[in-house]
Amino acid sequence: MPRFLRRLFSNQEATHAKKETRSVPCHVAIIMDGNGRWAAQRKLPRTAGHQAGIVALRRTIKHANEMGIGILTVYAFSTENWKRPKPEVDFLLRLPHEFLKSDLGDLHKKNVKVTMIGFMEGLPLHTRNAVSEAVGVTANNTGMVLNFALNYGSRDEIIAAVQSIAQKAVDGEVKPALIDEQTMASHLFTAALPDPDLLIRPSGEIRLSNFLLWQLAYTELWFTDVNWPDFDREHLEEAISAYRNRDRRFGGIKF
Ligand code: IPE
Ligand code: IPE
Ligand code: MG
Repeated sequence: MPRFLRRLFSNQEATHAKKETRSVPCHVAIIMDGNGRWAAQRKLPRTAGHQAGIVALRRTIKHANEMGIGILTVYAFSTENWKRPKPEVDFLLRLPHEFLKSDLGDLHKKNVKVTMIGFMEGLPLHTRNAVSEAVGVTANNTGMVLNFALNYGSRDEIIAAVQSIAQKAVDGEVKPALIDEQTMASHLFTAALPDPDLLIRPSGEIRLSNFLLWQLAYTELWFTDVNWPDFDREHLEEAISAYRNRDRRFGGIKF
């Protein structure tokens, strides 16, 4: 069992309220939303909101790591975000480079493993290079997984998986009647990861925006009105506390 999974079963329970019976979630996914509104409220350009979003990301990674979360997936750029004005798209796609340039050393020191889900080939070269370097440098790390969803869209992900499975069926490598959940899951960008236990969306929007549609089937959802740049330790703790008190039945019944 990887170390990040093993430490989830460590004795953290004792420090929490008695009512909270579950351990911290293994996999937390966050839709980092509300940067633009945060900036507008301060009469700042949207780019200032995105910059403040990086600060929120940095502290959330730190807090998630300290809390013993095994995998943190962050939605940073969707396949639909290309619809925004080019200067904003360009700014957003420079952020991974900027963030990794300043933070990769520290992440590596903390044994964090950087991964990415999304359509890498659609990203500008400088973004690809920054992500590839971070993935390569941290490939053998055994601590928290920091998974960036970049140029990610769930419908396109599912379509690509179906195309690949269909091709294997045509080539005789897969029997259509034997295609099951595992076949699908293993053809998604998230093949190496367990499904998220908890999804957090700040900014007051109550929707998934094409994020992990397959993987979120039984994920606990938690929403807050706070915009992403204001998201802090207390909000992460609140979300985790809510998660710990949820009754996860997966369609079964409680005995
Ligand atoms: C999230 O903030 C950043 C990305 C989508 C990349 P937004 O830019 O969507 O902020 P709002 O929703 O306009 O406030
Ligand atoms: C979702 O936020 C995508 C990311 C945070 C990267 P959006 O701001 O793009 O979502 P919508 O348009 O409000 O659904
Ligand atoms: Mg938004």
